[in-house]
Amino acid sequence: MKVFNLNWFKKLIFWDREDDALLGPAPIASRPVRATSPYGTSIWSVGGGKGGVGKSLVASNLALALSRQGKKVLLVDADLGAANLHTFLGIDGGKGALSSFLKDEISDIGSLISKTPFPNLDLVSGAKDSLDVADVKNAHIMRLREALKKVEYDYAVLDIGPGTSSNLLDMFLMGNEGIILSTPEPTTIENNYRFLKCLYLRQIKSIADSQEDGVLNSMLQKIFSDKWSQRVKTVSDIMEQLSMLDFDQGRMLREDLSATSISMIMNQTKREEDARMGPSIQRACADYFGMDIGYLGSVGYEDCVSESIRTRRPLVMHYSASAAARSLEACLGKLMNRANKNQPVTIQF
Ligand SMILES: Nc1ncnc2c1ncn2[C@@H]1O[C@H](COP(=O)(O)OP(=O)(O)OP(=O)(O)O)[C@@H](O)[C@H]1O
Ligand SMILES: [Mg+2]
Repeated sequence: MKVFNLNWFKKLIFWDREDDALLGPAPIASRPVRATSPYGTSIWSVGGGKGGVGKSLVASNLALALSRQGKKVLLVDADLGAANLHTFLGIDGGKGALSSFLKDEISDIGSLISKTPFPNLDLVSGAKDSLDVADVKNAHIMRLREALKKVEYDYAVLDIGPGTSSNLLDMFLMGNEGIILSTPEPTTIENNYRFLKCLYLRQIKSIADSQEDGVLNSMLQKIFSDKWSQRVKTVSDIMEQLSMLDFDQGRMLREDLSATSISMIMNQTKREEDARMGPSIQRACADYFGMDIGYLGSVGYEDCVSESIRTRRPLVMHYSASAAARSLEACLGKLMNRANKNQPVTIQF
């Protein structure tokens, strides 16, 4: 049975005029490098293009599962529009909120860290009142990235709100590991392809802006000029054209793009073919983005998931025997293997 329509996918990843906005100045104008924390904190961002698909569920339970393995974990609610991560842990909002750091009311992120009842797991809550992520200044996003590099944890897990605005993409790109949540529904898949496409464009622009000599930026301008632009239809085309113009720049760009390694979890699967969509999407991303998207596995739709949220008793702790909790633990295992393979190539002090 055909579970995946490639023609539809091709159409979706083609270049849109509206994508040009993402090629505006990027805030994170420093060359991305892996694991830039002197403490060695690994930053995991959980996000995606669609709301209500399980991002907070997965972020909170991955963080809790890591802490139960003895890792020191900081869970950060970076969903400013609908901060609710504390509820997934069954606790109140915490002593401060990330929004006050991003609004420049508080300068030390450490003062926003609350202990949770769970050993090894601390929390930075999101926004007390919702804050529009579009209103966050670029400089403050950069400050958050710098602050996260300095926290003394083994892992910082970020729950990012849904969407493809440049601020959201920049927050997602703070991660060494980026985890995209999907469901088998076409609307989620469509939004996630758009998310991936925008993510790569944003990343390319950040890397170009970080260069002092501006070589990559002039190459980008060239390939988007009239003569070349007809050949640029997909993200892969951009990479190909860049490599044709300057092989070394193309290779450097590919290396830098892997600073955030991206994986996907297929959540709320109800039948076997739902789970099979994961590997199909992975293959299509390799063909049309030329990128290795890791597939971490699927988590089935189960009543105990919503029950765990309703009763404020975290899934991996109180429903650990459920298929959903075991699938999440399996995804965590794969993610850790992947993260270990992607060990830091550069350490900045
Ligand atoms: N595997 C699952 N089985 C059953 N229900 C699920 C599953 N995963 C998520 N849900 C349901 O989906 C709801 C939304 O989950 P969650 O809040 O984690 O999504 P989200 O992507 O963070 O949403 P938002 O974009 O609004 O922040 C949960 O309240 C839960 O009831
Ligand atoms: Mg959420």
